Amino acid sequence: MKVTISLIKADVGGFPGHATVHPKLIESAEKSLSKYKESGTLIDFYVTGVGDDLQLIMSHKKGVDNEEIHKLAWDTFIKATDVAKSLKLYGAGQDLLKDAFSGNVRGLGPGVAELEFEERKGEPLVAFMMDKTEPGAFNLPIYKMFGDPFNTAGLVIDPAMHNGFNFEVWDIVEHKRVFMKCPEEMYDLLALIGAKSRYVIKRVYPTKQHPKLSSDEAVAAVSTEKLYQIAGEYVGKDDPVALVRAQSGLPALGEVLEPFSFPHLVSGWMRGSHNGPIMPVGIKDAKCTRFDGPPRVVALGFQIAEGKLVGPVDLLADIAFDKARATALDIADYMRRHGPFEPHRLPLEEMEYTTLPHIMSKLKDRFESL
Ligand code: F6R
Ligand code: MG
Ligand code: MG
Repeated sequence: MKVTISLIKADVGGFPGHATVHPKLIESAEKSLSKYKESGTLIDFYVTGVGDDLQLIMSHKKGVDNEEIHKLAWDTFIKATDVAKSLKLYGAGQDLLKDAFSGNVRGLGPGVAELEFEERKGEPLVAFMMDKTEPGAFNLPIYKMFGDPFNTAGLVIDPAMHNGFNFEVWDIVEHKRVFMKCPEEMYDLLALIGAKSRYVIKRVYPTKQHPKLSSDEAVAAVSTEKLYQIAGEYVGKDDPVALVRAQSGLPALGEVLEPFSFPHLVSGWMRGSHNGPIMPVGIKDAKCTRFDGPPRVVALGFQIAEGKLVGPVDLLADIAFDKARATALDIADYMRRHGPFEPHRLPLEEMEYTTLPHIMSKLKDRFESL
């Protein structure tokens, strides 16, 4: 049976500030999605909050980019926004950038990652959700999962994985994409995806040589929406989400999680304008507090059974990630001591907020030629 998993998220109001999602928003979204499950449009769903983002994880048979599914997610966010407004939550409706739905949530404001695939005998799937960062934050961990033999032992010792994987990389400035095969093109791939604010991994595919999986069915997908391109100006970094399938010729669950033992530096954090470590946490710790962060990542694990979402298991809540959390907090201290200096503060062109034009116009008559 072919099943589609759609993970669609939006910030429809923070509680308090940009810290968490109010429980009433989760309740509202659950109530809304229940109706679509009863009517048979959705097979199953799971709603949660990570930082200030409301997350809808849904299964169905309608394929990716399906208008009906995107519309029901949109309507669910609209209903949650009404609740957010009644509680005067912070920035109520901030990600619903256009007033009317027009066929697809892509280009509207919410972030979306979707996978359609033939369900295997055992189908483990991980939903990753990050807050206070941008889609490029997934480049390093996704590369490690599917491209790095020091992370993923299976690339070396599982014959099914030995041919590597095919990476779909998007240039989010020029709106172009390129497919690159790893390991053959590893160095070229890294040259692009190391520039994570411009080149982002959108999907990963098995190669044509994969003995068990179709090279047409993506095995990982990342949301790549960028709010500033949508609104015509920089209104916010888009906190990204990703879906990753695991096992049987794909990275094992532990190989999918291993990259998060290293809290790498990502851009976002306070005012979307700072570099900081991404801290792996469980749902109960997915609240952005210190300096509106540090940026966080949550991983919920499911087994998919005839489209049912069996789970979740809160994977990064495990004590095995305690040391990564401690390292992240050390890095947070170290970065914070730079105050307004780069490289803690982002370079000018990547900042979400900037007073520079005002400062420059104030000083324009006082600048002297050298
Ligand atoms: C970062 C984020 C927060 C806000 C900050 C200021 O992505 O959401 O750090 O940028 O709290 O928010 P405003 O300008 O709404 O007061
Ligand atoms: Mg917010
Ligand atoms: Mg957010």
